[in-house]
Amino acid sequence: MSKSYNIAVIPGDGTGPEVVAEGLKVLTATASMEKITLNFSHYDFGGDRYLKTGEVLPENAAEEMKKFDAIYLGAIGHPDVKPGILEKGILLKLRFDLDQYINLRPVKLYPNVETPLKDKGPEHIDYVVIRENTGDVYTGIGGVSMKGTPYEVAEQSMIYNRFQVERCLRWAFEYTKKRNKRKTLGLVGKTNVLTYVYDLWERAFHEIGQRDYPDIKRDYYHVDAACMWMVKSPEWFDVLVTGNMFGDIITDLGAITQGGMGIAAGGNINPEGVSMFEPIGGSAPKYTGKNVINPLAAICAGGMMLDILGEKKAADRIERGVIKVLEKDIQSLSAGHMGLSTTEVGDKVAAYVS
Ligand code: IPM
Ligand code: MN
Repeated sequence: MSKSYNIAVIPGDGTGPEVVAEGLKVLTATASMEKITLNFSHYDFGGDRYLKTGEVLPENAAEEMKKFDAIYLGAIGHPDVKPGILEKGILLKLRFDLDQYINLRPVKLYPNVETPLKDKGPEHIDYVVIRENTGDVYTGIGGVSMKGTPYEVAEQSMIYNRFQVERCLRWAFEYTKKRNKRKTLGLVGKTNVLTYVYDLWERAFHEIGQRDYPDIKRDYYHVDAACMWMVKSPEWFDVLVTGNMFGDIITDLGAITQGGMGIAAGGNINPEGVSMFEPIGGSAPKYTGKNVINPLAAICAGGMMLDILGEKKAADRIERGVIKVLEKDIQSLSAGHMGLSTTEVGDKVAAYVS
């Protein structure tokens, strides 16, 4: 019997709806080739809805999302809404409420894509960053006092418990094993300054690795040094694992080395629950409605969604389609310079997967 999946679609703000439309086009074409059924249900969460109703996210949104097999998200962020409200109220809230404790961000340079790294090609840039997605300064624990005075004090704490660290590390070891490339997992931390938080990470990393994954090689990098090596020697890396804040920062660096936000996809994964897939770039308001934004990151996020759902063949089909459009059609990954419109890119990939 053919498999069927229910997918919640949140196009969101800015160019989100445009890239999601192309992603859905490619997903639908792929599903029909692989004889799987995808049922899409749309949700209007985002800035426009907030400005109209005053509600960031309906009370029951996370519960509602739990009915689905996965969530496919465009972008969150609106120029008329103060930064933080939508990001915290929608994107981070869903990540937390659905306990999507892994943020999976591949850094892979595809053929024919320009990288700012000198003398590096696809053979050098192919690794994965696993970013813990529920803890760290993202918990928002802290506060401010004497605000607006010269004595203002602000505090926001980096918080991790052993449970969070351990489940993330275990998933990272398993992922490294399954990926079966260089069988090397690198922990990115800052044990020379964050002597509590990254000491916890480092001890857990070596304990779990030594006991349960003796075949996986363990490396450690301070986060500042990791940034240098991501530029100088990305070929060293296979899989990297790190906390939420460092993961946020280094994955933007990784993204630019693979051609930028036009191609970088991410998955917010709850291995035991509902996961959410998104292009990692923002809502790009200045390109909204112009049919110039690059939809490949959203298309790749759709591929990752199928992969995590267990549809590896379908995911590979999308990746081959993306590689083909990059090799044959697209001039540049930047919005407005692709030589094709947003919808044309979607049409081509949809044709290539068929
Ligand atoms: C990301 C984004 C988000 C984050 C923002 C929009 C809250 O930068 O997904 O990387 O910091 O996680
Ligand atoms: Mn980010």
